Amino acid sequence: MDNITGMKERKRALKDHNEALEGRRVSDSHTSLTEFVLPNDANTYGNVLGGKVMHLIDLAAAVAAHRHCRKTVVTVSVDSLRFLHPVKVGELMLMDAVVTRAFRTSMEIQVEVKSEDLLTGEQKRTCSAFLTFVAIDEDGKPTAVPCLVPETDEECERYEDAQRRRQRRLDRES
Ligand SMILES: CC(C)(COP(=O)(O)OP(=O)(O)OC[C@H]1O[C@@H](n2cnc3c(N)ncnc32)[C@H](O)[C@@H]1OP(=O)(O)O)[C@@H](O)C(=O)NCCC(=O)NCCS
Repeated sequence: MDNITGMKERKRALKDHNEALEGRRVSDSHTSLTEFVLPNDANTYGNVLGGKVMHLIDLAAAVAAHRHCRKTVVTVSVDSLRFLHPVKVGELMLMDAVVTRAFRTSMEIQVEVKSEDLLTGEQKRTCSAFLTFVAIDEDGKPTAVPCLVPETDEECERYEDAQRRRQRRLDRES
């Protein structure tokens, strides 16, 4: 590595370090997404396809991760998903995504999915998912993200639990 390249790398590391010290609030990343379920998204029983729901979960989580770190992000893992009830053609799917905790280069995002019957207004919880995104630099290498500052009791609880979930994921990998 020559001197100029070394200096550029050190400057980039310092910038990452300073950005990581600037905390972000959970509300900074909160993302809501609404999708109208159309026949093209459904199986022959008129229920939305699981893959469509997964796609929207990934999108909502990606936007939340972007909003948290304002860098390019990629999906690294998605925890197991369980669909609690079917969503029908003509209903709405409502996604709510927030960053629950940021680590060094990775962030855990929780996405809550609900359905809404447009005629009655009734909402049902469809599923909840945890995803991990990593911020990458222009060379595609993981880069530091700002820390998360939880404020409410609920945010603090999710923040604590995120550490345990991360450990389980990493244990599974090893
Ligand atoms: C994301 C990617 C850049 C990570 O590269 P890498 O060299 O494996 O990076 P590292 O081993 O340093 O891990 C980076 C972070 O991911 C975390 N990580 C790794 N595996 C993980 C897993 N299974 N679950 C959660 N986090 C994980 C690490 O703990 C680390 O986080 P930290 O810096 O906050 O501690 C690389 O794996 C990649 O490009 N993957 C493809 C991503 C993609 O294209 N996704 C779209 C679907 S294909």
